[in-house]
Amino acid sequence: MIDFLSEAIRNFRNTGAVWPSSPALAKAMTASMERLEGRRRILEVGPGTGPFTKAILRRLRAGDQFDLVEINEKFCRNLERDILSKYRPRHPQVRVDLHCAPIEEADLGGGYDLIVCGLPFNNFPPKLMRQIFRRMFALLNEGGEIAYFEYAGVRVMKSPVVNGAARARLRKIDTIGKSLRRRHEGRKQLVLANFPPAIAYKLRGAKKPA
Ligand SMILES: C[S@@+](CC[C@H](N)C(=O)[O-])C[C@H]1O[C@@H](n2cnc3c(N)ncnc32)[C@H](O)[C@@H]1O
Repeated sequence: MIDFLSEAIRNFRNTGAVWPSSPALAKAMTASMERLEGRRRILEVGPGTGPFTKAILRRLRAGDQFDLVEINEKFCRNLERDILSKYRPRHPQVRVDLHCAPIEEADLGGGYDLIVCGLPFNNFPPKLMRQIFRRMFALLNEGGEIAYFEYAGVRVMKSPVVNGAARARLRKIDTIGKSLRRRHEGRKQLVLANFPPAIAYKLRGAKKPA
């Protein structure tokens, strides 16, 4: 918790929250793992201190592959030390790789069935949001799912206290989100048991051209 707070203060743009996500939000974000059959490939983007990571690890089974991409070196060191290095020896048939890099540049093979994304898009330039979603859809299997979240009412709360340029940026972020959900069978779930309450969104991967 202290680690998360100190990184949030040091780099609020990338961290985008003051509190790690709750188990209830982690459950909503990872629920689709249950319906995936066979060997599953899962990608987590922006694990931070690992609330979604722990929910994913609990649901993994032999033969699965799990990649994590985190930009913050301190979060990477802590994830490796506190969570992943303990998990691997107990589950030798599951492959778990942490990539300490931005998702825009991480060296990943693709073919994921589920991408769980914790990035704070409301802090990002619209161009970066588009670039990251393009990358995630390119890494996603046909019919796979991207789960991402935002705090409920975040733009409504921020808009009155920011300047005109920031308000215009927030409107663009809203438009991009709506367009993604229209084009990718978007579904949403309000999770009140989170600080602050959050909306988990699910998007479906489009059919790849033959
Ligand atoms: C809102 S925090 C979410 C952390 C955690 N998933 C949770 O829900 O508590 C966003 C995380 O995304 C990471 N991040 C931000 N930009 C990133 C990028 N371009 N590529 C990978 N990780 C990024 C941050 O360092 C931070 O750990």
